[in-house]
Amino acid sequence: MKTIIGKDIQVAEALLRKGELVAIPTETVYGLAGNALNEDAVLNIYKVKNRPQFNPLIIHVASLQKMKLYVEHIPAKGLRLAQDFLPGPLTFLLPKKNIIPDLVTAASNLVAVRIPNHALTISLLEKLDFPVAAPSANPFGYVSPTSAQHVFDSLHGSIPYILDGGDCKVGLESTIISFNENEQVVVHRVGGTTIEAIEEHIGEKVIMDVFSPDKPSTPGQLKSHYATHTPLQMGNVNELIREYEGKKIAVISFATVYAGTKSFMLSQKEDMNEAAKNLFKTLRQLDKQDFDIILAERFPEHGLGAAINDRLMRAQQENK
Ligand code: TXA
Ligand code: MG
Repeated sequence: MKTIIGKDIQVAEALLRKGELVAIPTETVYGLAGNALNEDAVLNIYKVKNRPQFNPLIIHVASLQKMKLYVEHIPAKGLRLAQDFLPGPLTFLLPKKNIIPDLVTAASNLVAVRIPNHALTISLLEKLDFPVAAPSANPFGYVSPTSAQHVFDSLHGSIPYILDGGDCKVGLESTIISFNENEQVVVHRVGGTTIEAIEEHIGEKVIMDVFSPDKPSTPGQLKSHYATHTPLQMGNVNELIREYEGKKIAVISFATVYAGTKSFMLSQKEDMNEAAKNLFKTLRQLDKQDFDIILAERFPEHGLGAAINDRLMRAQQENK
């Protein structure tokens, strides 16, 4: 199959209506989209991504009104969050309506829904009378794509169209939240919406249910994820440089140059938004070069820094 990169939402619309897959831009990362109500299309998403079917998909809609067509109930706190943060990098896990196939949610009664903050994709979604299921448009386990070219690099030949909406502005996946029986906010993945912003909005602490080695409660919390082929290690870079003496070392830093290595600064002016935007692009770029090891700094553990650390931590693989 020939893969075309283009900017034509009518082409994208026609393909999606036929049950075909289209890569779509969002503010976070590119998604691999298919009609969420069409089980063949959904099956094809798992197949093209080589993703296990126990790992459920996020559905994408154009508006809060459309979101209500697919979920049973949005708690009052959720509605207020949605009004303030959507469209944006915040995904809501809510009780699903029957119309959403179990295949989308891996048989869970909760469905993940979000409204992406990207004008081109919103106009595409507005034309559709179904939601699109869209995981990040990368092969399972690899670094998420933040440009049309990234999608093309790994998925060309297996999808017909990549809708090119430019480089992703946020560059990290959405933050995923749910609500417990006391209507407290539970965070399942840290991402483009910061914990601090959510807590400030709701006026209370959130409950963190993110990755821990003993309990990957949602599959996105699996540890070896977002991984480069080149081994990556995060920690005290000066110590690690001594440990890897004699090797070809690349360093991912916020704004520091480390002597004796190739240092890739994510933001020379120490702007965390810029660093987040550059993370996946830099990982992909480094992975194409001939380094023995990628060393990464631990970023300041607040705001988007926490999400960057989460991705770097999971990009580390043992036994590589
Ligand atoms: O920013 C994003 O969220 C991007 C763009 C394309 O929208 N999408 C994305 O999708 O990151 P994906 O599939 O790569 O990650 C979705 C995560 C997975 O870890 C999945 O396990 C979790 O959301 N998830 C989806 N539906 C779920 C459900 N019903 N229950 C629990 N976790 C769910
Ligand atoms: Mg993903």
